[in-house]
Amino acid sequence: MPTALVDDRPTLDRQLAEAADRFGTPAYVYSTDVAEARLAHLRAHLGRWFAVSFAVKSNPNPALLGWMRDRLDYLDISSGGEFDLGLQAGWEAERISFTGPAKREAELRPAIAGGLGELVLESLREAELADAIAAELGVVQPVLVRLAPARVPKGFGDQMAGRPSPFGVDVEEAAETLPRIAALPNLRLIGLHIYSGTQCLKPEAICENWRIFMQVFSETCAALDLTPEKLIFGSGLGIPYHPGDSELDLAAIAAEIGPELDAFAARFPATRLVLELGRYLVGPAGWFVTRVVAVKQSRGSRIAICDGGLNANLAASGNFGMVLRRNYVMHRIGGEEDGTRPEEKQDISGPLCTSIDKLGGGVALPRLEAGDLLAIHACGAYGPTASPLYFISHPLPVELMLTGGQVQDVTRIGRA
Ligand SMILES: Cc1ncc(COP(=O)(O)O)c(C=O)c1O
Repeated sequence: MPTALVDDRPTLDRQLAEAADRFGTPAYVYSTDVAEARLAHLRAHLGRWFAVSFAVKSNPNPALLGWMRDRLDYLDISSGGEFDLGLQAGWEAERISFTGPAKREAELRPAIAGGLGELVLESLREAELADAIAAELGVVQPVLVRLAPARVPKGFGDQMAGRPSPFGVDVEEAAETLPRIAALPNLRLIGLHIYSGTQCLKPEAICENWRIFMQVFSETCAALDLTPEKLIFGSGLGIPYHPGDSELDLAAIAAEIGPELDAFAARFPATRLVLELGRYLVGPAGWFVTRVVAVKQSRGSRIAICDGGLNANLAASGNFGMVLRRNYVMHRIGGEEDGTRPEEKQDISGPLCTSIDKLGGGVALPRLEAGDLLAIHACGAYGPTASPLYFISHPLPVELMLTGGQVQDVTRIGRA
């Protein structure tokens, strides 16, 4: 995986330190060079079969969405607010799909009126509501139906099907529900969508999941006599967060599932296959930079207390759907310079008055002092917008975009 910037730690550290000094901390720094390299890697291995759709929920930063506009094929949004963000970033409505289990009339109406590419229906209720809105507006809305398979292989960080789930139409109900959706006169059923698991680092589990998708898609299209224009594969591609995690091997995935994808694509020659994903593209392209405010020696432990914690970065504190908190990979910025600070195990906490505000436990780092900067890796997805930013009213994090060594303030939070 080409990540030149990450491999060149001194350059990265100089850029992160300059950015922190100039714009303040806590800061999210997003490298478009790393995102570009990841996109190229993705297309090199999987582009033969798939177009790419970016899930805005993973990082809705307007500057990033703008950067993606001419690089990615589609955007997937999950709210009316994300629809507005996509349009403001210059995306054409017809390149946007809209998922989400609780879409309301107030967000469906402007999206349908605005020429939304595809509405991804998650229930009959939503289909009937959308049909009524489309009828009033005098349009026919292209729709996909999201299906929830009966099984998700082991190895996904979050399972969104294979058990009771609010997402999509359960495959057991599809025979009853889909013909009713297909019959609605102001909707045009043009394809199917599955997103059943996220954050998987096992190539064989990803392949097994896509096999399930292909079977569900084939059976459902045959039952409905549907020649789909689009079939959306919720990728599930994971990223390394913790020490010991390794980068997902896309070449191994392509080698294992390629022949089956070839056969599937041959059976659906008029269909665009789309990979929907978020974190794979932007997660490793982001660092969370926080400054040590104080250091406390407490009953044998050294604790570095930082200016950004759970409030600014819920995921790195282990409270974003994780069963167990595990340290993210992190380093002290400029930490390796002369070996004058040998590594020792330290705890890292944030500024909040709660013991769950912990960014690291027993992390081996050069001895930290007040004023030091820490960079937490893999923070480009589910960052500020997935965090309780207003809890205890600390300053909001800034968001910075790093392109070719140039840093730009692209903060959205608190500025819009
Ligand atoms: C419908 C849908 N699409 C895309 C994503 C993006 O997932 P990831 O960021 O893991 O690629 C999610 C994540 O929950 C999702 O629910």
